[in-house]
Amino acid sequence: MHIAMIGTGYVGLVSGACFADFGHQVTCVDKDEGKIAALLRGEIPIFEPGLDVLVATNVKAGRLKFTTDLTAPVAEADAVFIAVGTPSRRGDGHADLSYVYAAAREIAAVVQGFTVVITKSTVPVGTGDEVERLIREANPSADVAVASNPEFLREGAAIRDFKFPDRIVVGTMDERARKVLGDIYRPLSLNQAPLMFTGRRTAEMIKYAANAFLATKITFINEIADLSEKVGANVQEVARGIGLDNRIGTKFLHAGPGFGGSCFPKDTKALVKIALDHDVHLRIVEAVLAVNDNRKRAMARKVSSAYGGSLRGKTVAVLGLTFKPDTDDMRDAPSIPLVTGLLDMGAKVRAHDPVGMEMARRELPDIEYSDDPYLCARGADALVVVTEWAQYRALDLERLKNELAHPVVVDLRNVYRPEDMAAHGFIYDSIGRPPEAQG
Ligand code: UDX
Repeated sequence: MHIAMIGTGYVGLVSGACFADFGHQVTCVDKDEGKIAALLRGEIPIFEPGLDVLVATNVKAGRLKFTTDLTAPVAEADAVFIAVGTPSRRGDGHADLSYVYAAAREIAAVVQGFTVVITKSTVPVGTGDEVERLIREANPSADVAVASNPEFLREGAAIRDFKFPDRIVVGTMDERARKVLGDIYRPLSLNQAPLMFTGRRTAEMIKYAANAFLATKITFINEIADLSEKVGANVQEVARGIGLDNRIGTKFLHAGPGFGGSCFPKDTKALVKIALDHDVHLRIVEAVLAVNDNRKRAMARKVSSAYGGSLRGKTVAVLGLTFKPDTDDMRDAPSIPLVTGLLDMGAKVRAHDPVGMEMARRELPDIEYSDDPYLCARGADALVVVTEWAQYRALDLERLKNELAHPVVVDLRNVYRPEDMAAHGFIYDSIGRPPEAQG
């Protein structure tokens, strides 16, 4: 199969590299000349474990190419995937579809022979209809079918998620398009991934509903964590206790500082807006958004109350800045409102992140950065763990305590065990696990 991938962001680059690895001929297209030039030099613009090797192997094998010009790759493609960004529109929270529609018009101008055009970006229900209308308007003789094929991969685990998905959703009623997409994904049938064919609007809805449900699950356990702290229960055990019921499931029940990232905040917001456009109030999703925003802002207060007084003039060490481990992505990271809140309280902040510091400097220019977690802790009055990078789990707790001026640790990801922290003499606070919770 010949595939053109329009947009080399997270989803486009990972999907393009994985499709090439399946044996397809893939050309990734992006308007950003700097990005394409870097990719042609073998430099990967994002941090994603394993992606550099996957790209290099498939480029070497001649299956993966990069260009800024979509003309030739679209003309020869059996399938053209649109994987451009759909950011939140400034002001109203709707998804900004201008990049998707621009791509559709450009595809229409150069498409040749039967071609399936597929939206892989997360797009509001009905976008596929508009993409089809735009293509037919721009090129009435184009022989195209428009399908929706949402991507469910997670950053940090993107390649594994792409190659071993729980399911693949293909939204189109066109039989020729179903056949093309069935052929593209055939290698995954070896991994027993079910290929689910639906209507286009249903596929678009599945993606939003999945993200909103997962965001709800996280927010639910976060609220249960708050209550657990008050009543002396342990939220990790509560999560396991409820999660072992198959109807609930143990995943996505880790209480923390609130969800962030490039998808959940943006997609839940967009879903609420789509619903309002149709006079529907998604009250649960609206509440999830409000609760999550408040939660992120409340984390700075949690630090000052663990310290037991004003943080004015005090130094707080922050471990982990990215929205989750194994990525350098800072989009909607809980560290941003936390650090901002600490600065507003008059604290000085010194931060460490294994890979995210370059990105973080753009968002948080007014803090100090440290290349080493122990140096970050040196002389600090309190330490906060915001992202659960594996290397923080393995820190030498005795050494950490000796570095700190005051042994206050606020663990927003529950990476340490309260009994270990107590044994080392820390004043320790975590999420949903009061130190005295025994009963
Ligand atoms: C998410 C979806 O999982 C993925 O299917 C979709 O395609 C894109 O959005 P991603 O944003 O990469 O993926 O990260 P994910 O691992 O889902 O985490 C999102 C946020 O939720 C992070 O801030 C994470 O820390 C938080 N989270 C996740 C929790 O706080 N608790 C959990 O139990 C799980």
